[in-house]
Amino acid sequence: MGSDARTQVELLSEIKDLRTRLEKTLGELHAISKNRNHQARKHSDDQIRWVNERDSERARAEEMLRSEKVERGHAEKELGKTQKQLREVSFRLLLAEETERKRIAQEIHDGISQHWSTVKLRVEEILKNLDQHIATPLEDILPLIRVGLEESRRIQMHLRPALLDDLGILATIKWFCREFQKAQPGIRVETRINIQEEEVPATVKTVVYRVMQEALNNISRHSNGNLVKITLERTEGTTEFIIQDNGRGFDLNAVLALKGSERGLGLAGMKERTQLSGGTFHLESAEGVGTTIRASWPVS
Ligand SMILES: Nc1ncnc2c1ncn2[C@@H]1O[C@H](COP(=O)(O)OP(=O)(O)OP(=O)(O)O)[C@@H](O)[C@H]1O
Ligand SMILES: [Mg+2]
Repeated sequence: MGSDARTQVELLSEIKDLRTRLEKTLGELHAISKNRNHQARKHSDDQIRWVNERDSERARAEEMLRSEKVERGHAEKELGKTQKQLREVSFRLLLAEETERKRIAQEIHDGISQHWSTVKLRVEEILKNLDQHIATPLEDILPLIRVGLEESRRIQMHLRPALLDDLGILATIKWFCREFQKAQPGIRVETRINIQEEEVPATVKTVVYRVMQEALNNISRHSNGNLVKITLERTEGTTEFIIQDNGRGFDLNAVLALKGSERGLGLAGMKERTQLSGGTFHLESAEGVGTTIRASWPVS
């Protein structure tokens, strides 16, 4: 009996002890889980804050990008306007140059050329009535007068042929090619005209004439070829002017790389005139093959 009672007391004490340890462990477990929840909440709060900060940073960057785009758009618009104004001014300059050339050509025609013609007629008239013996020295002067007359006509035509304004570009191309053929019998010129006079705008006529003048000049000076094909035609939506030679050709990049006075003005002038009149200018050249110049304008 005595030993049973002791065992019971010992068991009770062990149970109490176990309970205390169990409660302690539960307490610790609770504390750990509380701490973990706290940590997890803190981590997720941090993450949310971080995401919010990133969002507002991105929004700020996007806003800056947007305003930069707007500013660039304004600047590009301004640049476009200035370029357009520059093109218009240059084009007006070209028109003014043509008007001036026309005026000077007219003055030479009405002044110097008329004067030479009158002198020539008067001398011829005097010669008719003169005794042959006295006439000879005067006859020697006549060729000099003719040269003077020819020269002033040549200058006048070079400035701006009246033909261009009187009869139009188609007649002028034919006349110019005939003259070129006379001066350069070693170069055959073939023309193909597939357009009506009224289909070529006035500004384009002048440019076609100036491009032809420079291109044929270049062909006679630099190409060493013996055939030139000139085409003026209306194709679908464009007016095309093409000058093709079968000469030695050249390296365009090498010519463009030349600086200052080494560099000619002809190619640049043709390109500028074409572009200012609303056209597109292309030049293709290959050594040993020849050169092709193509100026084209959209039909409006
Ligand atoms: N049809 C061509 N065949 C061969 N070479 C050419 C031809 N056209 C131009 N070139 C070459 O291109 C160069 C530049 O031509 P561009 O008309 O610009 O100047 P330029 O004729 O030398 O001088 P400028 O025209 O100012 O009197 C010429 O010097 C020549 O070397
Ligand atoms: Mg030239």
